[in-house]
Amino acid sequence: MDETATRAQLAQFGHSLFARGFSVGSAGNISVRLADGYLMTPTNSSLGRLDPARLSKLDEDFRHIGGDPPSKEVFMHRATYRGRAAAGAPVGAVVHLHSTMATAVSCLPDVAPGNPIPPLTPYFVMRVGRSMPVVPYYRPGDAAMEPAIEAAARGARAMLLANHGPVVSGKTLTDAVYAAEELEEAAKLFLLLRGTTPRLLTAAQVEDLLATFS
Ligand code: 13P
Repeated sequence: MDETATRAQLAQFGHSLFARGFSVGSAGNISVRLADGYLMTPTNSSLGRLDPARLSKLDEDFRHIGGDPPSKEVFMHRATYRGRAAAGAPVGAVVHLHSTMATAVSCLPDVAPGNPIPPLTPYFVMRVGRSMPVVPYYRPGDAAMEPAIEAAARGARAMLLANHGPVVSGKTLTDAVYAAEELEEAAKLFLLLRGTTPRLLTAAQVEDLLATFS
């Protein structure tokens, strides 16, 4: 896909996520890898009203080279790309949301820090994977978060930032958006089922999904 088509696709996905309440106000940011750098949503922009022509363009070292000033979470995206590449699983897009259910889970003190949402459904396992770390709280835009995000990204496609929201990566923008949507639905199921003892997918069923679909 060329840059013009990628710009249009990013704006379309932003609009779709916003229209369905996955992001409100100016929350959330999205980046996509290009042949010569990255596109990123501008800081303080609404995902519902992105102008493809004004998206931030960054070079391969994440320096701002065009469009509006980028999200203050540039380093969060950079750390995710670097962590996934270091793990031998390079990604082409990163989606950060404050979606309600995943953010609610990120506020719970009593979840497993390496895996706060158990394997309830196949699509959560297929899109998000077998683990999803919770990264300790940092102020939005705090560059001190970068090493923790890179470390988390080395071991997982998605993570929850405590009291903040999810960061999800994918080979393509479509993959990253689908994974962010599955994560939000899995978080909703997890919260609906809290206080019950649901049947989980077994370890063998999880491995079978990963072997078949990864
Ligand atoms: P930006 O508007 O700078 O992208 O920040 C929004 C956000 O989601 C912070 O975490």
